[in-house]
Amino acid sequence: MRTLIIYFSKTGNSQQVARRMAERLSADLQEILCDQYLGSAGDLWAGFDNIIGRTPKLAPINDLNEYDRIIIGGPIWLGRPSAPIRAAAEQYAKGRVDCGIFVCGMGPEDLDSAAKQLAALFDHKPAAVFKTHGSMLGSAEFENELDRFCGEFTNQLETTKHA
Ligand SMILES: Cc1cc2nc3c(=O)[nH]c(=O)nc-3n(C[C@H](O)[C@H](O)[C@H](O)COP(=O)(O)O)c2cc1C
Repeated sequence: MRTLIIYFSKTGNSQQVARRMAERLSADLQEILCDQYLGSAGDLWAGFDNIIGRTPKLAPINDLNEYDRIIIGGPIWLGRPSAPIRAAAEQYAKGRVDCGIFVCGMGPEDLDSAAKQLAALFDHKPAAVFKTHGSMLGSAEFENELDRFCGEFTNQLETTKHA
């Protein structure tokens, strides 16, 4: 069973999440690169695109259909899932039933709402949702939540496969 974790990370937090998740699930990693959001000038474009709801066009992932399951995740910008992960949900997850998602915020406040907004972009309810924030990374709480996410992701998809 092959799993691909597709993530965007501007400042490294979501990359840390994606790498840890990949270790736990023996998954491959695919980073989304969007140069327009780099650096402090990129903050302005990040905010602007999230306000107007614009999404960048992402490069195709050639072997996407060879993966049995995908996970899409990244940061929260202005209370919404960041533009690159909204784009990934729209461009890579069309029609798929085998998805998990994660969002990474600055603090806990926007996690529930941003995760709900991201989940709503998928054709099928994501099999599992992981939410974390800057100061939680690497903590025991983070590892426990990751345990729950990995278990739920694997079990839900096994159940769907055999239903
Ligand atoms: C333009 C911009 C807007 C942001 N808005 C929010 C926000 O509304 N809520 C929040 O929790 N974090 C917000 N953040 C912080 C990031 O979501 C947070 O630091 C996240 O952990 C960064 O992930 P990354 O290192 O993978 O980019 C914002 C960051 C940027 C650059």
